[in-house]
Amino acid sequence: MPALVLLGAQWGDEGKGKATDLLGGSVDYVVRYQGGNNAGHTVVVGDQKYALHLLPSGILSPGCTPVIGNGVVVDPSVLLSELSGLNERGVDTSKLLLSGNAHIITPYNVTVDKVTERFLGKRKIGTTGRGIGPTYADKINRVGIRVQDLYDESILTQKVEAALDVKNQVLTKLYNRRAIAVEQVVEELLGYADKLAPYVSDTVLVLNQALEDDKVVLFEGGQGTLLDIDHGTYPFVTSSNPTAGGACTGAGVGPTKIGRVIGILKAYTTRVGAGPFPTELFDEDGEALRRIGGERGVTTGRDRRCGWFDAVIARYATRVNGLTDFFLTKLDVLTGWEQIPVCVAYEIDGKRVEELPYSQTDFHHAKPVYEMLPGWNEDISKAKTFGDLPKNAQAYVKALEEMSGAPISAIGVGPGRDETIEINSFL
Ligand code: GDP
Ligand code: IMO
Ligand code: MG
Repeated sequence: MPALVLLGAQWGDEGKGKATDLLGGSVDYVVRYQGGNNAGHTVVVGDQKYALHLLPSGILSPGCTPVIGNGVVVDPSVLLSELSGLNERGVDTSKLLLSGNAHIITPYNVTVDKVTERFLGKRKIGTTGRGIGPTYADKINRVGIRVQDLYDESILTQKVEAALDVKNQVLTKLYNRRAIAVEQVVEELLGYADKLAPYVSDTVLVLNQALEDDKVVLFEGGQGTLLDIDHGTYPFVTSSNPTAGGACTGAGVGPTKIGRVIGILKAYTTRVGAGPFPTELFDEDGEALRRIGGERGVTTGRDRRCGWFDAVIARYATRVNGLTDFFLTKLDVLTGWEQIPVCVAYEIDGKRVEELPYSQTDFHHAKPVYEMLPGWNEDISKAKTFGDLPKNAQAYVKALEEMSGAPISAIGVGPGRDETIEINSFL
C-alpha cells in the first residue's frame, strides 16, 4: 500500500485533524511534514475534545506511530507540554518519533516574529506569533538550530552565536529591544535535550523501511494550499509547503511512493490573518457561518473570516496537489439556508476568469461570480450514507464535485469521528 497525503485545500482549518484521526485506526504511521505549532487540529473522540498543535493527529490512535518529520519546525517547550497534557489524559505518547533534522524554534525566533509583525503595522501578515517564519528563514539562511544540535554543546553554542550575531544588532538597533544572551538560550535548549532524547530518530530511514514493508503511511499537512509559500497568496502565507510536494521534502520520501492525495475541503471558506479572500462575507451570513461553524482559531483564539465556497480555489488545489480525492467537511453547517451561493468564477476588471490568476494584483481585484444552489432544512448530522442526505444537499455536493475536479470521497456532517459519510474508501 503506497503512502497517502492528507492536506488542506483552502486556507487551513478545513478539518484535517478530524480526517486524519478517522484514518488513524487503519494506518501504521501518521507523519507531520511541515509547519509547526501554528497549526491547531481539533479531534473529537466521544465526549473528549483534543487540540493538537505539533503532534500528528494519529497520536490518538493506539496502533499508530506518530512521526514529526524533518520539514517541521519544533518548539521544544510546546512539544513537551503537549505530550504531558496528553499523558495526563491517559494517551500513550511513547511511540512518537522526532526527526533529528527538524529545526528548532528558539526563543529569539518567537521574539523576531512578534517584533517584525509589530513593525509592519497595517501591512502585517497576521502570523500566529509562534516564530514559524523566522525559524524557516534561519533554516534557509543556514543559521538554524536542529534537534540533533541539542546533543553537542559546543556545536550548539557556536550555532546560537552565529544566529544571534546579526539578530542582536537588528533587535537592539532597529527594533529598540534588548539583546538576547547566547548563554541563556544555550542553557534553555540544553534543558530539553534529555527530555526529547527518547523520541529522536532517523525518521527518513524508518519511514522508507516501513513503506518497503508495505506499511501504511499517512502524511498529515498543516495549514493549507493557499497558505503555501510557493503556491499560496504570497506574502499572506505561512513559510513552508503544505502542498503535496512538501510531504516528499518534509519527510524524505520519494514522490513515487505516494499513491493518493486527499484534499480536505470545507463546504464554505474560512481564513485567519490578513490577505485576499474573494468570497469573504461582512454581513449576517458571514456571522452565521462563524457562529454555527464555531469558526474561532484553535491556536490564537482569533475569529476566522468566513465566506461562501470558492470553486476556483478548489480547482486550483486539485491542480497543484494532484488531488485524487476530496473530503468535504462541515456540510451540516450549511443546513438552514434557503439558497446557498457558490463562487464558480471571478470577475476581474470586467472579465470573467475561471482559474486562479497568478498575479497578486488581479487576485486582489477578483470579485466572485455566484451561482445559487437550493438549500435544505433537514438535520443531516445523523446521515450515514449519501442517500440519507436530503436531495438538495446531495445536489450541493455533486455540484461542488463537478466544479472542483476530483471525487468527493467522504463528507463530514459533524465534528465527531463517526459523523462522517464514507463514499469511496481511502485505503
Ligand atoms: P484543521 O486545522 O484542519 O485540523 O481544522 P480545525 O480543527 O482548526 O478546525 C476545524 C473545526 O471543525 C474543528 O472544530 C472540528 O472539530 C470541526 N469539524 C471538523 N469536521 C466537521 C464537520 O464535518 N462538521 C462540523 N460541524 N464540524 C467539523
Ligand atoms: P491549521 O494547520 C489557519 C496563517 C496565519 C497567518 C499566516 C502566517 O490549523 O490549518 P504563520 O504563523 O504560519 O507565519 O502565519 O498563516 N496560519 C493558519 N491559518 N490554519 C492554520 O493551521 C494556520 N497556520 C498559520 O493566521 O495568516
Ligand atoms: Mg486548525
